[in-house]
Formats: sequence, C-alpha cells, structure tokens
Amino acid sequence: VDQLKNLFSTINLGELINKDNEEKPEQLLPEVTFKGVAEYIKSDKCKNIIVMCGAGISTAAGIPDFRTPGTGLYDNLQKYELPSPQAIFEINFFKENPQPFYTLAKELYPGSFKPTTCHYFIKLLEQKGLLRRAYTQNIDTLERVAGVGGDKLVEAHGTFHTAHCVQCRMEYSQDWVKEKVFKDEIPHCKDCEELVKPDIVFFGEPLPRRFFNLRYEDFRLCDLLIVMGTSLKVHPFASLVDGVEDTTPRLLINREKCGESDPLMKLLGGGGAGMDFDSDKAYRDVCWLGDCDDGCLALADLLGWKNELKTMVCNQHKEIDQNSQATASKEKCPSKKSA
Ligand code: OAD
Repeated sequence: VDQLKNLFSTINLGELINKDNEEKPEQLLPEVTFKGVAEYIKSDKCKNIIVMCGAGISTAAGIPDFRTPGTGLYDNLQKYELPSPQAIFEINFFKENPQPFYTLAKELYPGSFKPTTCHYFIKLLEQKGLLRRAYTQNIDTLERVAGVGGDKLVEAHGTFHTAHCVQCRMEYSQDWVKEKVFKDEIPHCKDCEELVKPDIVFFGEPLPRRFFNLRYEDFRLCDLLIVMGTSLKVHPFASLVDGVEDTTPRLLINREKCGESDPLMKLLGGGGAGMDFDSDKAYRDVCWLGDCDDGCLALADLLGWKNELKTMVCNQHKEIDQNSQATASKEKCPSKKSA
C-alpha cells in the first residue's frame, strides 16, 4: 500500500489530465462501425491488411482453444496430472517429463482437420492483393492448408512442420516425428539420443526470428489490423496490436472483447496501450462479437465477396475430402449467381 501511495504521489495529475485532453489522431474510418471498416477496405486507402489470429479461428474445425472455460484445453488436462495446465507447454517441464506433451500432440497432430471459413477469408484477402501478413499463434498449420503462402505467414508460436533435437539441434521432418508419436514412442535424436521436439514455441523459449525480423516494418505499414479468435493474453504476441500507427483502424472479430486498454495503465500515463471500442473517444477500434466464421462471412458480404468465399470453402473442402479418400463433402457449393 505504501509503495502504491508513493507511486501515486509522484504522478503529475495535471499532466495526466492534459494527456486526456490531447487531440485524438485522425479518424480514417468513414464511421467507427463494422460497416465503416468494410467501406474503408473498399477504398483506396487500405492496401496493407494484417491479420492476427489465435486458437478461436480453428475451434470450428474441431480443435479446442486454450482458455474457454469448460471446452478449452487448459480445463481438460486433468488426466496428465500436471503441476499447472500450462506446464504441458513449458520447456523445463517437457525436458523432465515429455510424455504428456506427446500424448496430447497425437490428438492434435495436423493432418486430421479442415481449415475454417475464417482461414479461407485470410486466403481471400491474399488473393485480392490486400494481405500484408497473417500473424498466427496457431500451430495447427491450417493457414497453410487453406493455401495462404508461406511468405505471407508469420507462425509466431512455431509450427509442427519441422522438429529439432533439444540438445544438438539436428533437424527432423514432421513425418519422422509423427510416425514415432503415433506409435506412442517418444522421439529421440539418432545422434545424441536427447529428445526431439516439434518446432512449436514453448513457454520459456524465444519466438522465431522471422517474428522479430518482420514485425516493425509490417506494423508500421499496416492500413488495417484484423484480430480474430484470440484472447490476447500471451505476450509478446498480444502487444502487436500496439505496433500499428495511432491512426490505423483495428477490427476485432471474437466471441468476447479482449485487448482493451487497461484502466490502471491509462491512469499511469500508458494511455496508448490496448484497444478502445466503447468510450466516447473511440475513433478506430471496432468489435464484432460472435463466431469468427460468421464475422468473416458478414464482412465478406459487405465487401461483395460472400459468394466467392463460400465457393472457395466448399471447393477446397471437397478437394481435401477427395485427397484424404474420406466421403466426399455433401455440402452444395453456391452457384455463381446466388449471393
Ligand atoms: P485462447 O484460448 O486464449 O483464446 C481464444 C479466444 O477465441 C477466446 O477469446 C475465445 O472466446 C475465442 N473463440 C473461441 N472460439 C471462437 C470462435 N469460433 N469464434 C470466435 N471466437 C472464438 O487462445 P489464444 O489466444 O490463441 O501458446 O492463446 C494464445 C496462446 O496461449 C497459444 O498460442 C498458446 C497458449 O498458451 C503457447 O502454447 C505458447
């Protein structure tokens, strides 16, 4: 309490009040609404869109997210008897006890899931020449499966695509690791016999170099940031929302609001951090609450792309079904004429 009192006594309230009275930056959206964002995308001002996404864009594919109470992964790990749910992705815990991670990996291994409408919406942004980059926290590789180019992707929490020995760093392919995992074997390095781990980022490990190499330039040039299916709880990923210019509009499509500015931080003078959807000073942040797939379809509708998106999803799902020799999708693709 004393420390807080000291802290508050050093804050210059006059300065804070002035900060609050500062003029807000230029508003680029014709109106601060979902429709306003669509109008802005259609204008020639919006050429570089960045998408930031998380586990919520893949729940419709059947992959659980992490933090949704009840269905999220962290509420369903009791059988592993972990010291804490996140331990399954902690590097020090993994080195001591890799079994829980590999048992889970077997369930979640890429290859058994189909991208969602939201993944194909990202692909559509790329096809329209509007996607500067998609920054994903997901390790399910569904952006790649949807056809988003590797150059357009930053897999910020790594990927199952490749794997390395945790000791000598010898590289192993996804197929080699997958074969072991599906035989319930723990993959060990052929050379030094240490553990081999897919290149997904565990707590306690640095993010890939590509994340740091691209983020500053990408976010400086960003004309619109679309955040989808993430609780924005994990840093440094979550703080990317503050990397765009003060004027850059930001759209959140999610089941719940997140990433809002922390009132305490604001009081302490860090007013720029986080998004502001609701205050009377809101000038660039828009929130669409609901399922990502519905949000993407609603946006595609306003952009006149809805039929194109639905056709893309349907055709791609059929192709995946055929390639995996599963029963062909019974969904009927929309005809070119219908909206
Ligand atoms: P979370 O589980 O923390 O958040 C998922 C968000 O998506 C929540 O806000 C859900 O309400 C929302 N959501 C779920 N399904 C949705 C749907 N169909 N439509 C719209 N919204 C939906 O997942 P992340 O934010 O991705 O890191 O988690 C971030 C990181 O925490 C992960 O990358 C992982 C984890 O620990 C590591 O393992 C390093």
